[in-house]
Amino acid sequence: MNLAHAHNIADLRALARNRLPRMVFDYIDGGADDELTLQRNEQRLRDIELIWDVLVDVEKLDASTTILGAPSKLPFFISPTASSRLFHPRGGELAVARAAQAAGIPYACSTIASTSMEDIAAGHQGPRFFQMYVWKDRGLIVETLARAKAAGFSAILLTADLPVPGNRERDFRNMFTIPPKVNWKTATQTLSRPGYLYDLITTTPVKAANFAHMRIDVSLIDFVAAQFSQKVTWDDVAWLRQNWGGKLAIKGIATSEDAQRCIAAGADAVWVSNHGGRQLGAAPASIDTLPAIADAIGGQTEIIFDGGVRRGTDIVKALALGANSVAIGRAYLFGLAAAGEAGVARAIAILRNELLQTMALTGRTRIAALTRDLVFRRTLP
Ligand code: FNR
Ligand code: LAC
Repeated sequence: MNLAHAHNIADLRALARNRLPRMVFDYIDGGADDELTLQRNEQRLRDIELIWDVLVDVEKLDASTTILGAPSKLPFFISPTASSRLFHPRGGELAVARAAQAAGIPYACSTIASTSMEDIAAGHQGPRFFQMYVWKDRGLIVETLARAKAAGFSAILLTADLPVPGNRERDFRNMFTIPPKVNWKTATQTLSRPGYLYDLITTTPVKAANFAHMRIDVSLIDFVAAQFSQKVTWDDVAWLRQNWGGKLAIKGIATSEDAQRCIAAGADAVWVSNHGGRQLGAAPASIDTLPAIADAIGGQTEIIFDGGVRRGTDIVKALALGANSVAIGRAYLFGLAAAGEAGVARAIAILRNELLQTMALTGRTRIAALTRDLVFRRTLP
């Protein structure tokens, strides 16, 4: 199978699996503990059924919207994910950002990206957001915020669900770290993927490009864990709010109480997420936490949703249940791993086509018309 024959995200996942050393594929594909939350995220979305209106003029469909103040041609965008050059050494972050730009959707860059924010700014013209943690070192935060502003990142996405890294057992089994260390396991897995290996050795080493000026001699995940103060609270969010004049979203929200706290802290968006099932291994499916949050705060502030989105219908379901936009993670990562920029473009095009088709089939021509009445309620047992 090649890219032209990848008809859905599952096909891209199969291509990614063929291209990547196992440890890298597992890092993308895996979740915490027994991966129950990871499975639930997808399964519970699949379980939702949609109904439709007939005989509606659906010749013209408008899927455009605004996400954190940025215009977007589609109601979904790129979720921040670590170190894109690990997944495609030659393409990396710029491949993702350029595919997003071409599709007219925002791009979000991870704190632990493998391309610096300045290099991304130099190669990308669309709306862009920067993901952060609340570090122990406030000097580092202030410096990072100033750099993000200078590099044209209009929003900060504060990831709040990673006070400690989740229990990713596939990574332990593969002896995988970011960046990977050479050991018998990682070496044999990489040698069995010559295309990837060639890209890896003919490009610059994968590292935490935003912190190239700092000495990091532990793995990146350990660096994140060590830098993330376990004492961080809502007071620190208030401090961040005072120090950042752009848009602010808080990522990793699962309850309406925390959603209210986001509003009280001055956030512009509540980001409903369980980190793609990679953190708390006993978390409910992200989609199951959305309706109560939408009931509590919908209309007061923007709601972003992520977790398990693999189909255009999944996007419609999340919007129908109260999200204003949807962030995609693995869906584009499989495309990136399969074929760099063209693969990300393919992933976005697949989701876009499925979304537009679903809008036509449900008789809803605008994003604001994707409302909860689309979700089928069973009357028979
Ligand atoms: C992530 N995610 C993530 N989130 C974040 O805030 N900072 C990060 O650096 C990363 N890194 C990362 C790496 C990989 C490989 C994955 C799969 C995910 C979480 C991501 O932004 C998003 O919340 C989930 O991926 C959404 O779930 P789906 O769409 O992957 O099911
Ligand atoms: C992850 C971290 C880096 O999910 O956010 O792998």
